[in-house]
Amino acid sequence: MRPEQPILIFDTGVGGLSILEPVRKLLPHAPIVYAMDRAGYPYGQKPESELAIRVPALLGRLCEHADARLAVIACNTASVIALDPVRAALDLPIVGTVPAIKPAAEQSQSRVFGVLGTESTVRQPYVENLSMKFASDCTVLRHGTHDLVELAEAKLRSEPTDPAAYARILDGLFSQPRGEEIDTIVLACTHFPLVEEELAAAAPKHVTFLHGGGGIARRVAYLTAEQPWPDRPPPSTALVIPDDGDIEPYRQGLRDFGIEAIETL
Ligand code: DGL
Repeated sequence: MRPEQPILIFDTGVGGLSILEPVRKLLPHAPIVYAMDRAGYPYGQKPESELAIRVPALLGRLCEHADARLAVIACNTASVIALDPVRAALDLPIVGTVPAIKPAAEQSQSRVFGVLGTESTVRQPYVENLSMKFASDCTVLRHGTHDLVELAEAKLRSEPTDPAAYARILDGLFSQPRGEEIDTIVLACTHFPLVEEELAAAAPKHVTFLHGGGGIARRVAYLTAEQPWPDRPPPSTALVIPDDGDIEPYRQGLRDFGIEAIETL
């Protein structure tokens, strides 16, 4: 292991920045490469079979290119669908991002909580299994939304977003039977913590939002505990699988998260 070998953090878009931030806080010396599969965006609306093939192949290519020491799948959709095939295909430690259902069950007072994710994530048996395992005495209400992914992307392009749009999305949870009893919402898509303030402002009452960023950072720190880091890490790079859109509008948003250079693959 060489000190300059990076941690690779992978998502389709800007969502993984909500994971990059706590990782950097805990491991300030770690070199980080932030990989974006723009060409595959949005995973939340792709068939499972496509992601189970695409994610392992692409992540393998990205990790090899970056000479990564460890990869974080900073995307709930890719993790709940493709974590096992990725681990089977790649010869380095892989950390996945799974919905924070266990912490929600531990702290919900009303025993009714919401899970907000992409359409694809919320329908996965993985989520059902987590609910049965850790929240069998709770009512777990799920809502899938691509609109909230788009709102987070727009925010990172420094575009204004409409407060009413957040209220409409939250209504997808609160209008369900027992929805008015929700006291906690699991942000089961890494894009969503980026718009947590907007969600909190639009919520019909005070709720606690939970996501997995802190836990993932601790897991990465644990897995790299004995490893060397450079005295001063190089500025982070974004490694982009391009689509036909323009990456430039994201430059400032990426810079705000300490990503100075953008490289396309
Ligand atoms: N950030 C991804 C997640 O956590 C979703 C983004 C997408 O749909 O591509 O699920």
